[in-house]
Amino acid sequence: MAVRPVLRMGHPLLLQRAQPIATVHEPWLATLLQDLRDTMQALDGAGLAAPQIGESVQLVIFGGGVNPRYPEAPLIPPTVLINPVLTPLSDELEEGWEGCLSLPGMRGLVPRYRHLRYQGWDEHGAPIDRSVSGFHARVVQHECDHLLGILYPMRMPDLTHFGYQDTLFPGESSAPSD
Ligand code: NI
Repeated sequence: MAVRPVLRMGHPLLLQRAQPIATVHEPWLATLLQDLRDTMQALDGAGLAAPQIGESVQLVIFGGGVNPRYPEAPLIPPTVLINPVLTPLSDELEEGWEGCLSLPGMRGLVPRYRHLRYQGWDEHGAPIDRSVSGFHARVVQHECDHLLGILYPMRMPDLTHFGYQDTLFPGESSAPSD
């Protein structure tokens, strides 16, 4: 069990393209995955990408049980996604509020594809191929952007909808997705 520090916006590693993972049956990968899970759980994240804990490889995790920070969010199955490939299933965009453990306390209104297919591999090397919509699609796009060196403010067309959560939403605690 290891909860690792989450890099914050400004760290150059968050702006790098992550390297593909060549083989899944590696002890370092099992350790990294456990650290990701421990860190996400400790911080109540909706998802976490390996570069956020300092490892620039193409691995993200997301989903799981009800998140106390996002109690209204639809359930997403707990997912380990390696070397993801994302394909929008239509041009339709949807705006939604996002946060990120690398920008603690901040929220921004971000357009994302509403309908998305994502492919990749799980930690056992089994293929993943899902077509999803809405919040699930948003979380996947947010997490996989971390593997491209993209943080959500870089996806925002209008920075007037970017600020501190407690100022934007006094008394509230809901917004997708870290
Ligand atoms: Ni994030």
